[in-house]
Amino acid sequence: MDTRRALLDALADGPVSGPALAADLDVSRAAVWKAVEALREEGFAVESTTDGYAAPADPAYCAAGIEFGLDAPYAVEHHDSLTSTNDRARELAAEGAEDVAVVADAQTGGRGRLDREFIAPRGGVWLSLLTRPTAPPARAPLFTLAAAVATVDACREAGVDAHIKWPNDVLVGSDEDGGNASGGSGRGGRKLAGILTEMEGEADRVSWLVVGVGVNANVDPETLPAGATSLRAETGGDVDRRRLAATLLERFATLAETADRSDRTLAAWRDRASTLGRRVRVETPSGPVTGTAVDVESPGALVIDTDDGTRRVHAGDCEHLRDADD
Ligand code: BTN
Repeated sequence: MDTRRALLDALADGPVSGPALAADLDVSRAAVWKAVEALREEGFAVESTTDGYAAPADPAYCAAGIEFGLDAPYAVEHHDSLTSTNDRARELAAEGAEDVAVVADAQTGGRGRLDREFIAPRGGVWLSLLTRPTAPPARAPLFTLAAAVATVDACREAGVDAHIKWPNDVLVGSDEDGGNASGGSGRGGRKLAGILTEMEGEADRVSWLVVGVGVNANVDPETLPAGATSLRAETGGDVDRRRLAATLLERFATLAETADRSDRTLAAWRDRASTLGRRVRVETPSGPVTGTAVDVESPGALVIDTDDGTRRVHAGDCEHLRDADD
């Protein structure tokens, strides 16, 4: 482990003196001092107290702040602004990196599913996690489901009763709200977060996987597309983005250990999903499929009972219907 991360881990246990740190980390006192200064420059305001170095009471939303006390094997890279955190994670993948979470305060060219633009102003949690799972490519979608579960859990910890709408939108509220811009039928709630997973691999092996998660955290909903909301709007105050990002990464790390064991991932996803049991219309590449969503199957297909029998859909836009929409 590098000195920086070891120092952050040591500070998570309480104040510690420079000499004790040097001995624990097996480095010189000058190296400890240098690492402390580097953390301060990053925005992680290490305090000098009579008991030694101490972590700030309220760590900033920066790389060290997110890594501080993080129970997940990821290094964090924080940027003030990026075109897209997924693009930066892809660059890192090309350089051979792994287990890195790229975080940006704002994105100027955020990307959503189905080649859509994703609006990502300052105040959100825009995060892309680069990993190299050993699961075969066919199972990669299970990591997206795991990310949706992790995102819901992080939003719930922040005080918002989030749920998943297939395939991987994180929403709050019911079918009665979140109506689309044309005032059409319910979208299943107000959108809090979305996920865009990208990967490269061969027939039997994933080379890299980038799971991009965008959470409208401390964002003014008026700056977002119609039907979207933010954690701040739902809770009435700013949420702790550092805690949110750390919880998301920790939950994802736990789930990813067994993400390709589809039974566990699917069970966690079903528990948090609002789509199952609903009348839905899914716009698939081969046309709309309308019926009752009855299950999700590995690696993420929605099973729909239609008038013409059972259909399994793998991709598309899903709308929760009201009875009157049929
Ligand atoms: C969607 O709802 O269509 C998916 C949105 C995914 C947005 C996130 S924000 C972090 C990462 N970087 C991107 O450019 N996109 C994803």
